[in-house]
Amino acid sequence: MENMKNPWMKLSVLLFIWFFNSQISFGADTITANQSLSGDQTIVSSGGNFVLGFFTPGNSSNYYIGIWYGKIPERTPVWVANRETPVNDIHSSELKISDDGNLVLINGSQVEIWSTNISSSNSSSVVAILEDGGNLVLRDGPTSSAPLWQSLDHPAHTWLPGGKLSLDKRTNRSQLLTSWKNSEDPAPGLFSLELDPAGTNSYIIRWNRTRQYWSSGPWDEQSRIFRDVPEMRLNYLYNFSFHSDENESYFTYSLYNNETTSRFIMHYSGQIQQQSWLDSSQLWNLFWSMPRQQCQVYAFCGAFGRCNEIGLPFCSCLRGFHPKWETNWNLSDFSDGCERTTRLQCEEDPNLVTGRTDKFLESPNVKLPESAQSMSVGSLLECESACLEYCNCTAYAYDSDGCRIWRTELLDLQQYSGDTSDGRTIYIRLAASEFPSSSNNTGIIIGAVAGGVGLLLCLVIFAILRWRRWRMINPKVEGSLLAFVYRDLQSATRNFSEKLGEGGFGSVFKGTLPDSSIVAVKQLESISQGEKQFRSEVSTIGTIQHVNLVRLRGFCSDGTRKLLVYDYMPNGSLDAHLFLEDKSKPLAWKTRYQVALGTARGLTYLHEKCRDCIIHCDIKPENILLDAEFWPKVADFGLAKLIGREFSRVLTTMRGTRGYLAPEWISGVAVTAKADVYSYGMMLFEIVSGRRNSEQNEEGKVRFFPTSAARVIAQDGDVLSLLDPRLNGDAPVYELSRICKVACWCVQDDETHRPSMSQVVQILEGVLEVNVPPVPRSLQVLADNSEHIIFFTESSSSPSSQRPSNASNASSQTKSNTSSTSS
Ligand SMILES: *[C@@H]1O[C@H](CO)[C@@H](O)[C@H](O)[C@H]1NC(C)=O
Ligand SMILES: *[C@@H]1O[C@H](CO)[C@@H](O)[C@H](O)[C@H]1NC(C)=O
Ligand SMILES: *[C@@H]1O[C@H](CO)[C@@H](O)[C@H](O)[C@H]1NC(C)=O
Ligand SMILES: *[C@@H]1O[C@H](CO)[C@@H](O)[C@H](O)[C@H]1NC(C)=O
Ligand SMILES: *[C@@H]1O[C@H](CO)[C@@H](O)[C@H](O)[C@H]1NC(C)=O
Ligand SMILES: *[C@@H]1O[C@H](CO)[C@@H](O)[C@H](O)[C@H]1NC(C)=O
Ligand SMILES: *[C@@H]1O[C@H](CO)[C@@H](O)[C@H](O)[C@H]1NC(C)=O
Ligand SMILES: *[C@@H]1O[C@H](CO)[C@@H](O)[C@H](O)[C@H]1NC(C)=O
Ligand SMILES: *[C@@H]1O[C@H](CO)[C@@H](O)[C@H](O)[C@H]1NC(C)=O
Ligand SMILES: *[C@@H]1O[C@H](CO)[C@@H](O)[C@H](O)[C@H]1NC(C)=O
Ligand SMILES: *[C@@H]1O[C@H](CO)[C@@H](O)[C@H](O)[C@H]1NC(C)=O
Ligand SMILES: *[C@@H]1O[C@H](CO)[C@@H](O)[C@H](O)[C@H]1NC(C)=O
Repeated sequence: MENMKNPWMKLSVLLFIWFFNSQISFGADTITANQSLSGDQTIVSSGGNFVLGFFTPGNSSNYYIGIWYGKIPERTPVWVANRETPVNDIHSSELKISDDGNLVLINGSQVEIWSTNISSSNSSSVVAILEDGGNLVLRDGPTSSAPLWQSLDHPAHTWLPGGKLSLDKRTNRSQLLTSWKNSEDPAPGLFSLELDPAGTNSYIIRWNRTRQYWSSGPWDEQSRIFRDVPEMRLNYLYNFSFHSDENESYFTYSLYNNETTSRFIMHYSGQIQQQSWLDSSQLWNLFWSMPRQQCQVYAFCGAFGRCNEIGLPFCSCLRGFHPKWETNWNLSDFSDGCERTTRLQCEEDPNLVTGRTDKFLESPNVKLPESAQSMSVGSLLECESACLEYCNCTAYAYDSDGCRIWRTELLDLQQYSGDTSDGRTIYIRLAASEFPSSSNNTGIIIGAVAGGVGLLLCLVIFAILRWRRWRMINPKVEGSLLAFVYRDLQSATRNFSEKLGEGGFGSVFKGTLPDSSIVAVKQLESISQGEKQFRSEVSTIGTIQHVNLVRLRGFCSDGTRKLLVYDYMPNGSLDAHLFLEDKSKPLAWKTRYQVALGTARGLTYLHEKCRDCIIHCDIKPENILLDAEFWPKVADFGLAKLIGREFSRVLTTMRGTRGYLAPEWISGVAVTAKADVYSYGMMLFEIVSGRRNSEQNEEGKVRFFPTSAARVIAQDGDVLSLLDPRLNGDAPVYELSRICKVACWCVQDDETHRPSMSQVVQILEGVLEVNVPPVPRSLQVLADNSEHIIFFTESSSSPSSQRPSNASNASSQTKSNTSSTSS
């Protein structure tokens, strides 16, 4: 007990005992008419689940009356009384039943700071009771049934089980769940959740009580989900129910398992969040949040702020502006927005000829703010002049939609990154002095010379790269494939004697062509296509060539016998090197990084650079082949059309692929290239750890690596602990951290959260920075409820039969192969 020698430690123990005593002496869960609560006193609900008293949020010096969890060490307020009116001195402030029967908070000057505001009755018999569900109830006598007032009817930012958020049909007013301003200020923020007053039975989130930016979609009583929250199908925690009568309608929910501690909060990020307390790791775990992307929260970055989904932090001020309240920005509260660093010329001197000296900064690839005013002018210059006409014009845009000017603060400006067809250009008005001075001629000349040299250098480098790439691709027979006769392939493979592997569509054999080049010959099974269509599909695949894709050399179509001839990859497939038993030769970190990046480049090519987008559908280590220098090449792309109708059958029987399948395969919605991104992410986890993602331990329990990894990553924990132990920590932490973050982003439940493959390439190249990713909910489900593994791994058959695949499958050149194309 080294610690006990510390005098501070003793003091705090004493304090604790004193605190504990005062709590006991104050008594139970009730405030009666001649008692009051002040200082460190608290009342505790009968089962100890909730505590009421004064608290200070975060590092704030303000005190509030609040209710928090009694059994969770991290103080987590679920309700706050005086949200907008804190007190400074808790010893002179009192919470008590006033003479008019209200529960009131008075400060040191006996001023009423907060009140329950009911017009009751008889003070002497009124009591306030803190119930074990977290509800503070005011009753006329401890046994009276109908409450005079209860905190569940006046929620702050938390929706507790048993609480309701209702719509009063008589007044068409709904109860609001309102965010805090930030982590240290419980005053009502700009974001609120409510039941749509228009009576659609949807929950909506609004900004500043007006602008709606998210809706749950209407409740569907049949399937018991909100239409636009399909993931509720996977819900196993909450029992939602809907109630409607002539006076009101509302939803309420309970927890199926009363051992769980879970809550909904309207977070100050503008997202509605579902959080559950994890006893094992002693922290709140974010399960679910909406809207999915931070920048979908209306005006999240405030006036003249700019939201960017990629890169931390999400918000920045437009050039020429700075945060209005830096303290709040440092608390991730951006609602105050930004203000000009330099006043506009026209504001400085209103008599100046309509502010001609102000200039405009071109800001491309953004989502334009709302509330623009259309001007009927015909050119960019005229549009600029139209804006300069008004001193309160802040920006203009001129494109195919004509000229628009903004005479307001700019709200909800979003910066897109990468290619998007939605990106527009806006011209933002700034004082001329914000622009580099044009009188400094020498600077410009030096700049021009430097720029010229830079350009030249770029050109040279570009040319070299082009030349190298050209050399690597080396297209000897560009576009055209070799058409083999069956007999030739028979002899090339010495009558199919050397089998490299076997997959869902047939076997792969090693062969040698007359020119002594070595090939891999794949015998396709279950081809449902006619001759003409087969040849046309194969020749399409033949035109797809990239350094990181396995090249198709030729084919053979002889009646029902269909074969494909590929380049042979001497180092086989990635799984053989990754999951190798031999402890002496683990794949070096450098090689792993090269494999991750190369695979991403190959997939980018398939997704974005081909004439028709090709979804691979079966990304896993077995389908990543390694050439002599351990450069990765993606195998088996573009086969879906060959397989045709059989595809869906193949998919549902794909055994080796469980664990790489994106959730949307199972939910039955349209599958996009983001499904490959998901599988790729799962594979990255295996590249990092050198083990299969799911393995059974000795007790037969399934260990699912991505879940534990995602938690470490989400908490910015020690990524080296995730690395293949055989590498003895021999990997640069920044690369490891980068790859881990990418992996976790790739496996997000919602495909819009996942990056595109080209973004992955940019991140791995170090060109793009990336945020700390949240733990995907489905991974959470998987870890906490092993019976739910079914959700993740396969769509068919009974849950009990589902166990993630083991590393038992032998390595092969190509394995079960499913691919699909779509445009
Ligand atoms: C006030 O408290 C005392 C004991 O603390 C109790 O005897 C008395 O009945 C209480 N009065 C009221 C009106 O509740
Ligand atoms: C309080 O401030 C310290 C130092 O500024 C910071 O490390 C800590 O995270 C803050 N605590 C909270 C709850 O915000
Ligand atoms: C009590 O509240 C009033 C009104 O907000 C304020 O003027 C007064 O200074 C407060 N007294 C103390 C002791 O905080
Ligand atoms: C109580 O009513 C007064 C006046 O009607 C109002 O100013 C105050 O905000 C109300 N307080 C609460 C907590 O609703
Ligand atoms: C208040 O309660 C007392 C006794 O508990 C009773 O005599 C009196 O009539 C009540 N007054 C009202 C207005 O209910
Ligand atoms: C409430 O809204 C409903 C449907 O929008 C409308 O029919 C009704 O008249 C409204 N009632 C009030 C009191 O505004
Ligand atoms: C929110 O709306 C109120 C009027 O309803 C307005 O006064 C206030 O400025 C708005 N807040 C912001 C941040 O725009
Ligand atoms: C779900 O809630 C409803 C209404 O509260 C209740 O009738 C039903 O029994 C609950 N179902 C389960 C499985 O707990
Ligand atoms: C609706 O309100 C009226 C008046 O307050 C009340 O008489 C009626 O019982 C309420 N209906 C329901 C279903 O609660
Ligand atoms: C959960 O419910 C069961 C049965 O209703 C009860 O025995 C148990 O005490 C409850 N547990 C908690 C933590 O509330
Ligand atoms: C905000 O954070 C930055 C960087 O951490 C710091 O330099 C600055 O002083 C902070 N500003 C305020 C007002 O706290
Ligand atoms: C801009 O100024 C004009 C008058 O010059 C005024 O009519 C208009 O309301 C102002 N717009 C805003 C958003 O303040």
